[in-house]
Amino acid sequence: MRLSRYFLPVLKETPSEAQIVSHRLMLRAGMIKQASAGIYSWLPLGFKVLRNIERIVHGEQARAGHIPMLMPTLQSADLWRESGRYDAYGPEMLRIRDRQDRDMLYGPTNEEMITDIFRSHVGSYKDLPLTLYHIQWKFRDEMRPRFGVMRGREFLMKDGYNFDLTKADALHAYNRHLVSYLRTYERMGLQAIPMRADSGPIGGDDTHEFLVLAETGESEVFYDAEITELKFGDREIDYDSVEQCQAVLEEFTSRYARTDETHDAEMFAKIPEDRQRVARGIEVGQIFYFGTKYSEAMGATVSDGEGNKVPVHMGSHGIGVSRLVGAIIEASHDDKGIIWPEGVTPFHCGIVNLKQGDAEADAACDALYSSLTALGLDPLYDDRNERAGGKFATMDLIGLPWRITVGPRGLKNGVVELTSRRTGESEEMPPEEAVQRISQIYSANA
Ligand SMILES: Nc1ncnc2c1ncn2[C@@H]1O[C@H](COP(=O)(O)OP(=O)(O)O)[C@@H](O)[C@H]1O
Ligand SMILES: [Mg+2]
Repeated sequence: MRLSRYFLPVLKETPSEAQIVSHRLMLRAGMIKQASAGIYSWLPLGFKVLRNIERIVHGEQARAGHIPMLMPTLQSADLWRESGRYDAYGPEMLRIRDRQDRDMLYGPTNEEMITDIFRSHVGSYKDLPLTLYHIQWKFRDEMRPRFGVMRGREFLMKDGYNFDLTKADALHAYNRHLVSYLRTYERMGLQAIPMRADSGPIGGDDTHEFLVLAETGESEVFYDAEITELKFGDREIDYDSVEQCQAVLEEFTSRYARTDETHDAEMFAKIPEDRQRVARGIEVGQIFYFGTKYSEAMGATVSDGEGNKVPVHMGSHGIGVSRLVGAIIEASHDDKGIIWPEGVTPFHCGIVNLKQGDAEADAACDALYSSLTALGLDPLYDDRNERAGGKFATMDLIGLPWRITVGPRGLKNGVVELTSRRTGESEEMPPEEAVQRISQIYSANA
């Protein structure tokens, strides 16, 4: 993409309505525009990041054997009357009436709808285990939408649902989700710590939230400092292996880590004092096992092979896709702007032409641009007639992890400059080498 043809409405002024850095930077970098309270348009740059996060989520769900689908945003109230949640959900649910006077709602989550799909089509244990998921917009009429996309009213969520014959099978599905979530967040350059949490209106006893540590997080968290040393990394895992998934769950949840809702001061006090941490975190996901709560209420049963019809054991698992855009920025920025991790960056690198209109500099930039795109990379070429300082400021603000700077002086010696946004370090090298370096960085990251 050439910046002169793109739509990147960056703001010079710091927007006064934004209280936290990710919200400020998303507005300044032209990623979002508020449509109404807690509802946002995703402008092209923000939309690219959102799509990259979705792509990682889909990739890791596929690896775990979970099946993608898509359910609608608007749901019939009747399904929610069956589960008893139409009345229980309260004012967060946006209720709508259609022209036939039927009660509808904008889905805050999809347990009822997926259970209805399941009971319509599955009747035998032979079709289990089954995990279906989708990435779809949700609406919750939050009392205090704030912090931009972090607590929106309309937001994008990955929600998945497992169906299993026994509790043991469903707990394996729970563990499998925990592993796949660890991988998902790490690929986005994030550390998200599973913490024992409270189940709220979904119901059930077994639940973990995934929290990214950040001062601006809405949850107070208590944990053993040792937990921040754990990394899933690129180890191999067999998602069908009960033992392997269980072992990862134990590794990542045996140390104390809880949100304020489940915090136990006595247990916390037993951790050596120098390892006790009280901090704040952003909830970027949650997994639940809730047994037969919905399957019993809605008659989702299967034959168990021994002549009985039994309700299936279920769980649900959510990732805050749109919230993650903000969470990643909270975790990765400096005073000049965003610093995107390679896994989610909207463009792989920037090209800055220091002397637009200079025949040699223009030709070198065009050549770089073609070489990068020929390798399947997606560069953003700043080809505007702007001063170098302004171009650098824009690149720093929008946070592309790598920048190639091209100017007549370097070209005389056959070199361009490759700069890391994270470290600020620059290196001179021939243009072909810069292309190779960028290509290697992203193939290592794929
Ligand atoms: N209002 C919101 N705005 C943005 N993301 C949200 C919002 N509410 C929930 N999410 C994201 O969706 C994920 C799954 O939702 P869920 O656990 O059901 O939400 P909650 O814990 O708020 O009830 C959460 O972990 C969070 O990342
Ligand atoms: Mg939650």
